[in-house]
This record gives sequence, structure tokens and C-alpha cells, in this order.
Amino acid sequence: MVTTILLLFSFLHFISAIYPDCKSGKIIFDPSSPETSYPAPYTYPPPVFPANFSCEFQIIVPEGKFARVTLSLTSPHKSQSSAVIFDQLNRSETVFEADSEYFFFIANGGRIQFSTSTHGVRFGFYFSWNRYPTYTFPGGRVNVSDTQPFPAIWPTTDRGASISIEAETKVSATLLRPQSDNQLKYLRSVIFFDGPDWNNNTKSLGTGLQLFNGKTQYVSTGNSMKVLMLESPPVQFVQLFFQDYEVTKGIKSFQGAYCNDRSPCGSFTLDATNGPAALQVLNADSVTVISDLSGTGQLEVYIGTASRNKTNLVTTYHAGETNSSLPQKVFGYFKTFLLTDGNATITFNDNLRDENMYVSVGSTGFISSDSYGTYALQQRCLLRLLISPENTTVKFRFSISQFNLVGNTWLNFYGDGGVTWFRTYTPSHPPKLNSYQEFSGTEFLVDCDNNYIRNKGFLMRYEIGENSNNRILVLLSTVLVFIMYFD
Ligand SMILES: *[C@@H]1O[C@H](CO)[C@@H](O)[C@H](O)[C@H]1NC(C)=O
Ligand SMILES: *[C@@H]1O[C@H](CO)[C@@H](O)[C@H](O)[C@H]1NC(C)=O
Ligand SMILES: *[C@@H]1O[C@H](CO)[C@@H](O)[C@H](O)[C@H]1NC(C)=O
Ligand SMILES: *[C@@H]1O[C@H](CO)[C@@H](O)[C@H](O)[C@H]1NC(C)=O
Ligand SMILES: *[C@@H]1O[C@H](CO)[C@@H](O)[C@H](O)[C@H]1NC(C)=O
Ligand SMILES: *[C@@H]1O[C@H](CO)[C@@H](O)[C@H](O)[C@H]1NC(C)=O
Ligand SMILES: *[C@@H]1O[C@H](CO)[C@@H](O)[C@H](O)[C@H]1NC(C)=O
Ligand SMILES: *[C@@H]1O[C@H](CO)[C@@H](O)[C@H](O)[C@H]1NC(C)=O
Repeated sequence: MVTTILLLFSFLHFISAIYPDCKSGKIIFDPSSPETSYPAPYTYPPPVFPANFSCEFQIIVPEGKFARVTLSLTSPHKSQSSAVIFDQLNRSETVFEADSEYFFFIANGGRIQFSTSTHGVRFGFYFSWNRYPTYTFPGGRVNVSDTQPFPAIWPTTDRGASISIEAETKVSATLLRPQSDNQLKYLRSVIFFDGPDWNNNTKSLGTGLQLFNGKTQYVSTGNSMKVLMLESPPVQFVQLFFQDYEVTKGIKSFQGAYCNDRSPCGSFTLDATNGPAALQVLNADSVTVISDLSGTGQLEVYIGTASRNKTNLVTTYHAGETNSSLPQKVFGYFKTFLLTDGNATITFNDNLRDENMYVSVGSTGFISSDSYGTYALQQRCLLRLLISPENTTVKFRFSISQFNLVGNTWLNFYGDGGVTWFRTYTPSHPPKLNSYQEFSGTEFLVDCDNNYIRNKGFLMRYEIGENSNNRILVLLSTVLVFIMYFD
């Protein structure tokens, strides 16, 4: 009897735990609410709600506070059941599947509209109340003439922070794709504000995730922007880049990636059919190797930002016409690849990071210092061109278009380890710019260093030709035989 009652009791308890009701169709939470989850108490995995169930949850948030909602939703069957999450600006995101996804609500709060369709769905969420972070990152200023962006790289601490950026005209903000997809949820905690005031939710431009999904930029109406990151990921980090809008205003879409040996760049499609499309790449190894460019259109490659007067433009490619000019190493940490028209796919090779590069007869390319075009402290270069097939003697032809004339800079060229050919240049013995030099050999090493004297760096172009000495010899002997014969 007792067992039966107990069983009945636990059965009833189970029923009520299966899904809590939502009689009025709406449940409101605010900081005074005793409950901080639905259902309460929260269980994982959450309970199954039946077909045709719907409920709206409203979370009211006072100024200066935020609520982090952790939400799960799984459909046992493929169904159209969903939760629509409305943020403080009434911008919505629809979720069909979520496993402990984070959503952040600042003042005045947000809503979750949950509805099931033809099948039952597991659903539940819990949330915590927190204060805005007080930690402030040193801010920055961006100018129209900048050739590098201002980075805000959130460290891998658990605490949030804010940052203020000023611009000569307007502030433009873009971000890089996180290294793994499970970090995407933290982009919802990055909130961009138009102006210097972060307490004023009416001036929010949106979240980092909205920026990322929109492949776009946020632009301030005045000359300042404030960014609040409510929480940062426990591992890895969020990378934001700020530029003056004068630099970015012509660009219609943005993508970005951070690459290193554990997180290769891979390939990206840039669609510039509606206007220029930019890909921003930050590379931990200071070199990115383009191995292919297919499709249509013209691609501009900048070390730094797609600057207005193009001082840091290192090359321009036409998609599909790159068989002699790729692979190419692009030096420097931050690069912008700007497709100005067409639709092209750019592919990076992440296995060619050392100083050697194989080229063959017909190859062309460039070598630059790592901050070419930017008045920078570090302007170093190192690259060894090796020939494939190995040890073939070729003609190296090259022309220098920029060389620094101040301080203690040096630039050395070694043909076959310096045995057959060597040149060294310094500000007191500079090279002749834009004029070709050539030598024959099997290997070409270019090495330069500015010894930390600020300057705009170094750029040269090269082409690999057939070694014509042999042909000249044949020609010469034919002429000699001819002369002797007729003499
Ligand atoms: C859900 O609602 C629709 C329309 O009101 C109805 O046709 C259907 O039978 C309901 N399904 C269940 C499982 O209650
Ligand atoms: C929010 O957007 C929904 C539709 O997306 C609309 O029905 C609702 O009226 C909006 N609410 C406010 C307060 O603007
Ligand atoms: C931008 O301009 C301001 C004042 O005009 C100057 O102080 C600042 O150094 C400049 N920033 C950069 C990155 O050149
Ligand atoms: C481009 O702008 C930079 C920064 O204002 C300036 O130093 C440089 O001389 C300009 N270059 C050209 C080619 O106009
Ligand atoms: C917030 O912005 C609104 C509209 O721009 C303005 O009226 C209000 O004074 C601002 N509030 C604060 C606290 O700055
Ligand atoms: C590049 O491709 C074109 C057309 O396919 C061909 O004519 C040309 O010889 C190729 N150049 C090299 C260096 O392979
Ligand atoms: C651009 O190219 C990609 C990949 O080839 C393709 O999937 C996409 O449909 C193209 N877009 C347009 C607008 O042609
Ligand atoms: C290339 O030359 C080096 C040095 O003379 C030699 O050690 C190496 O075996 C050669 N490689 C080939 C493939 O001939």
C-alpha cells in the first residue's frame, strides 16, 4: 500500500516534471523573481514538451545589469519547433537546435518565444544576473591615413571589459571568425554602442554575432564607439578591429579569420557582385601563403588595411590568371584581401610557413618586409627561393621598388649561398629603384632588417627565367663556325 502510494506520488511528480504549464501563455522574470530557470528547478537534459505547446518568456533587465541565459532545445524528430530570441532592440534570432547556447540580455531585457509544432521537443533554460564589467581596456584612435587597424584582442580571462574607440571621421568595427564554432556563442556577449556612452541601450548597434552573421561592419554616426564585452570565452579570444570609416566605406562585405598551425586558414569565397568584398586575415606566424585564386574578378592584397592611397598594396591578381604568380607568401600579421569585382575563391596553403619557397621557370612574385607601406618599427624580410626541379640553373631577375634610406638598415642578396653572387645595400649604398638586375644560379636568398628604425619598408618583384647562357654559347659557336667557314 505504502509502496503504491509512493509510486503514485513519484508518478505524479514525474508527470509534473515532464513539462511545467504556461497557462497565461507568458511568464515574466525580473531580478526580484525567485526563479531563475524554466522549468524550475532546472534539469539537464530538459523535459519534453508536447506538440502544439507555446509559451513566451520575458526577462526584464534593469540598467547596468545583464542576464546570461543558457538555453537548450532539441527535437527528437526533425520538426519546425523553435525558440525565437528577441534582444533589447527587438532583433530576433531563431533557434531550432541548441545545446547550452548563451544569450545575453541588457536593459531593458528581451524575450524568448518558444513553440512546438507537430512533435514533442526538449526545452529549457536557466539564467544568472550579473553587473556590467568594470574593467576598461586602453582605448584607441583611428585615422583616415592609417594603414593598420586598431586591434582589440580580448584576452582569455573570464572577465568582461569595455573599450572606447575614437576616429578622425567615424568608427568602423569588424571582427574575425572565432577559431572554433563553439566559441560563437560568446560573440553574443559583445555589444557595440554608437557613441561614447555604453549605458544607453537605445544606442546599441548590435552584437558581435549579428556582425559576424551579417558579414558586415558597424559604423558610428559620430566619431566614437564603445564596445562592451559582457563575458569573454574561457579559452581562445575574440578579435575586433577598428578603422576609420573613410578606409572601409566602399567595402560591401567583410569576412575575417585568425590562422595558425592549429587553425589553418583554408579557403574563402569572396562575392563582390554587389560591391567590394574584404577578407581580413590575422596570422600568428607573420606569413600567409596564397596558393590558389579561382573564379572571376580582381583581388588587391594589402599588408594592413585596404588603405585609401594604397601605399601598402603589395600586389593585384586577376582570378583564374595566377598560374605563374602563385603560390605567393604575403608577409605581415594583418592582411586585407579585397576582391573589387566578380566572385572568387581564395585558397591558402598553411604548410609553407618556413623561409623556403619552391619556384620554377616562368614564376613571378614579390618579396616585402613584414610591415611594408606602414611607418613601422619592424621591417624585416627573409625568403629563400629554391628551384624545382632541384639544382636547375635559372636566371633570377628582380627589381626593387622601395628601400628605406634611414638608420642602420641593411638588405642582402645571396645567389647560391653567396658563392656565385652577392649584393648588399644600406642607406649609404642604396640600390637603384625600379631597375632590373639579374644573375644565374640555383638559389636566391633575400634577407633584410631595419634594426628598429621606423620606416616604410622594402618591396621587390622577381621573375624566374630560363638560363640563357647555354643558348648564347650555342649561338656564339654557330657564329664562330659560320665566320671560320666563310673566312
Ligand atoms: C495541433 O494543432 C493542430 C491545429 O490546431 C491540430 O490539427 C493537431 O491535431 C494538434 N496536434 C496535436 C498532437 O495535438
Ligand atoms: C518586435 O518584433 C516583432 C516581430 O518581429 C513585432 O511583432 C513586435 O511588435 C515588436 N515589438 C516591439 C516592442 O517593437
Ligand atoms: C591619429 O591622429 C591623432 C591626432 O590627429 C594622433 O595623435 C594619432 O597619433 C594618430 N594615430 C595614428 C595611429 O597615427
Ligand atoms: C599615403 O598616405 C600616407 C599617410 O598619409 C603618406 O605618408 C604617403 O606619403 C601617401 N602616399 C602616397 C603615394 O600618396
Ligand atoms: C540615451 O539616449 C537618448 C536618446 O539618444 C537620450 O535622450 C538620453 O538622454 C540618453 N541617456 C543617457 C543616460 O545618456
Ligand atoms: C598559365 O596558363 C596559361 C593558360 O592556361 C598558359 O598559356 C601559360 O603558359 C601558363 N603559364 C605558366 C607559367 O604556367
Ligand atoms: C560565387 O561562387 C561560389 C563558389 O563558386 C558560389 O557558390 C556562389 O553561388 C557564387 N555567387 C554568385 C553570386 O555567383
Ligand atoms: C643539389 O645540389 C646539392 C649541392 O650541390 C646536392 O647536395 C644535392 O644532392 C643536389 N640535389 C639534386 C637533386 O641533384
